[in-house]
Amino acid sequence: MNASEPYLFKPGKIRLGVNIDHAATLRQARYREAGPSVARFVEPDPILIARLAEKAGADGITAHLREDRRHIHDEDVLRLRQSVKIPLNLEMSLASDVVEFAVKLRPQAVCLVPENRKEVTTEGGLDVVSLKKRLAPIVDSLTQAGAAVSLFIAPDIAQVEAAAAVKAPVVELHTGAYANAYDTPQRAEEFARLVAAAEAAHALGLIVNAGHGVNYVNIPEIRTLPHLHELNIGHSILSRALCTGIEEAVRAMKDLANPPQI
Ligand code: PXP
Repeated sequence: MNASEPYLFKPGKIRLGVNIDHAATLRQARYREAGPSVARFVEPDPILIARLAEKAGADGITAHLREDRRHIHDEDVLRLRQSVKIPLNLEMSLASDVVEFAVKLRPQAVCLVPENRKEVTTEGGLDVVSLKKRLAPIVDSLTQAGAAVSLFIAPDIAQVEAAAAVKAPVVELHTGAYANAYDTPQRAEEFARLVAAAEAAHALGLIVNAGHGVNYVNIPEIRTLPHLHELNIGHSILSRALCTGIEEAVRAMKDLANPPQI
């Protein structure tokens, strides 16, 4: 069985991929100077967050290994690979060292995202139309390494067609413009673009994922996107966890500051 098969298997429900990057962002805001070696001993530990997300029913964990490693480190990804059983979706740029790292790691899924301006469409997704030549061999080598390769694209038919042309099996539709327009008259138009892109991708045999800016308010509409296989969500889940976890966190610290006298 191909290593990505469990990832591609459709259980008849929308899969939830939990993006743990924001936990790493918070960690680095305090511990950047300390370097990667302290990562296991300080809070928040993105790998612990991933394990708890898995326990709560997440279908996958997404982490973005940036070229400058400013949030998630290589060590985080290696620990993730060992610590969680659900599929790892490695978000990554087209940089050759990151591609080499992913080929060795063999995650179940990868999502190629733009990191420098030249790779970005006007709407923020990967400009697959302009990058076709560069992308095709990258998609091929990651596919050979057993990953389900997804391209993070704006909901634009030309980008969908280019994704099919470079033989990516999956597209992740960028829901950011829709999320930003949620409370404006443009929302219906943005949603219609997502629907059209999802239909076009499905017609070309592509698996349809979506993500960016999906939250507890807009998910009732987002989940009605046709052919939706997986949502990748980070910010809203991590933000809610801060609120739902604050009481326990304060109680625990207060108890430690005032241990019972023996
Ligand atoms: N999908 C991709 C490709 C992303 O880069 C991100 C993070 O920006 C997300 C999904 C999750 O977005 P958010 O944190 O807004 O939920």
